[in-house]
Amino acid sequence: MSPPPAPPADLQGRHIVLGLSGGIACYKAAELARELVKAGATVQVVMTDAAQQFITPVTMQALTNRPVFTSQWDARPANAMAHIELSREADAIVVAPASADFIAQLVQGRAAELLPLLCLARPIERCPLLVAPAMNREMWAHPATQRNVAQLRADGARVLGPGSGDQACGEVGDGRMLEAEEIRDELIAFFQPKLLAGRRVLITAGPTFEAIDPVRGITNLSSGKMGFALARACAEAGATVTLVAGPVHLATPRGVQRVNVTSARQMHDAVVPAAKAHDVFIATAAVADWRPASMNEHKIKKDGKKQAPTFELTENPDILATVARLPVAERPWCVGFAAESQDLARHAREKLERKGVPLVVGNLGPATFGRDDNQLLLVDARGERELPAADKLTLARALVAEIAERMKSR
Ligand code: CTP
Repeated sequence: MSPPPAPPADLQGRHIVLGLSGGIACYKAAELARELVKAGATVQVVMTDAAQQFITPVTMQALTNRPVFTSQWDARPANAMAHIELSREADAIVVAPASADFIAQLVQGRAAELLPLLCLARPIERCPLLVAPAMNREMWAHPATQRNVAQLRADGARVLGPGSGDQACGEVGDGRMLEAEEIRDELIAFFQPKLLAGRRVLITAGPTFEAIDPVRGITNLSSGKMGFALARACAEAGATVTLVAGPVHLATPRGVQRVNVTSARQMHDAVVPAAKAHDVFIATAAVADWRPASMNEHKIKKDGKKQAPTFELTENPDILATVARLPVAERPWCVGFAAESQDLARHAREKLERKGVPLVVGNLGPATFGRDDNQLLLVDARGERELPAADKLTLARALVAEIAERMKSR
């Protein structure tokens, strides 16, 4: 089998100014710089005096392969105007960590140091500013900070987080800087086209588990990765996303509301009442078709006579077909998946008709279950369209574009 395609370098060709103000979260900014570089960006670090109390410019230079700027009097730019030149090249300025004092400076339009000065001097329409606050929970909750953050948003900046949890000071609460990977993903999402802005999307993902007794059950090899990638891609595209997930240990994509279920009936009961509050339903889950007609209360033991137990099975409800048959006013636009082991196009078209859905996405189950890549075949009234082999997030974004295009006419 050919090696899986590399994951997308989502920030390829992007030039990011990464600003650090003073705070212990500066240690996470080193990791962030690395993550941005790994995602393909070029990163120009700018540090305030306070930031240099926590981490050295040498560390940041080594990670980004570029000398760090710390002063507006830096003579390197030919015109000696670092505060102008730096933002003119940038696709975005990310300040992480942004201290309470730094946010106050931004709100007041102060410019005593290079970093607030270049934020003030940036072309506001062309160079977005994303700010990741990091501070003690009392500082975050203070009315002055809350007022400043509201004003910062009103002035057009994007505020990332903050997170909640243990703080360096030993207290617990809101104000932690988001983790490096979270900030990276927020930035990647920020650059994605908002093809589903204002849409509400419901997604099922993963396998289901049908209990035989308290320790055994019937399940399948679905990893949930395609459904989770779709949830992320829909959220990146500006949708409000509800993800009903079977038993999988995958991280919930940022901004996605997750509902955990185990069995097909639980998935059905979570999905059907929620369907009418959504515009799109994407059924990626590999729902078990059958479940044991009854569950044994206790573990089934060997009987000593080498007699294997037999099970009566009963059919599970078809979640996708149920949603697709809701009255028109309550019915989201439905996308089915067809996991097949052969004859993809024929089976996918048969499911399109049997389930009464406008789009079925076929994939070869054994070739993709558990892997990070896939290959999709879109089947609808127009015909067939192949989305060639790629990592699941790339395919999910391509599928989002296909769905958004079909939704336009609704
Ligand atoms: N599906 C569902 N509820 C079920 C079974 C399937 O919502 N009880 C959805 C799946 O999420 C997928 C589509 O229906 O979007 C097709 O699922 P698949 O397992 O490929 O097909 P089945 O309908 O189970 O048919 P078959 O087993 O004959 O392939």
